[in-house]
Amino acid sequence: MKNPFQRNKRRFYALENRIIFMEAALETYFDSPTYIDSDAVGFNGQKIRKAIFNELCDTFSFQSIIETGTYTGNTSGYMATQTGLPLSTCESNRVLVALAKNRLSGIPGVKCYAMDSRDFLNTLTHLDVSSERVFIYLDAHCHDDLPLKQEIEIICKTWKEFAIMIDDFQVPGDKGYGYDSYAGNQALSINNFLPVFLQNGLAPFFPALPSSKETGAKRGSVILTRNGNFADQVVNKCGSLKKYES
Ligand SMILES: C[S@@+](CC[C@H](N)C(=O)[O-])C[C@H]1O[C@@H](n2cnc3c(N)ncnc32)[C@H](O)[C@@H]1O
Repeated sequence: MKNPFQRNKRRFYALENRIIFMEAALETYFDSPTYIDSDAVGFNGQKIRKAIFNELCDTFSFQSIIETGTYTGNTSGYMATQTGLPLSTCESNRVLVALAKNRLSGIPGVKCYAMDSRDFLNTLTHLDVSSERVFIYLDAHCHDDLPLKQEIEIICKTWKEFAIMIDDFQVPGDKGYGYDSYAGNQALSINNFLPVFLQNGLAPFFPALPSSKETGAKRGSVILTRNGNFADQVVNKCGSLKKYES
């Protein structure tokens, strides 16, 4: 017979997450009320990840940036200040949205939405950013409900030209890069997600440099573009990435 903890496992973890986020929000509110650039801030404080982002921006001349999972707004702030591009970001936790809005209020072109990532991506279509060439950072995962597959499907139906970066994704052959795993054996891994990428006509790329050279939290990532011209440009111009060959 299951004990009360096992019966309420999901609710317990959801509650734990809310407390952790609340603590992070309070800490950030007092310690760093305004976004300030530093090596430790944005993309988990990872210098190789920042180099990948900057190389993709140089290669594709994006017109705008989209992020799912704002949290305290550190990566939003980094991407917006680094590029000067308009940035839209969404977050399901309203306290974090309020905090991020305040922290990022001095950066022109940043919009924070209190929304689920799927509703947010669908809404952007109506705001007519769908005609733009976009960089999309998918980082709205940390609860049991993993929106990644639906997010990818909405993006591929909505935008023609984009590069997606997914945080917390396993880098094949390099155990030093961390990644997330969810209920039901849903690791963010190429084994689990290759069928989704292929069904949507996407080519996956991984960091070319090993985790031993990475800084900060050393989280793994995968970068996706449509097969064809976009993927060819990554192969030819982005030395920071290597194409995944199955
Ligand atoms: C890992 S944090 C994001 C970190 C942030 N991108 C950064 O680099 O600083 C994940 C965030 O996604 C949010 N989140 C989780 N599921 C979501 C969903 N379905 N829609 C929107 N936000 C979500 C969480 O509340 C949490 O703040």
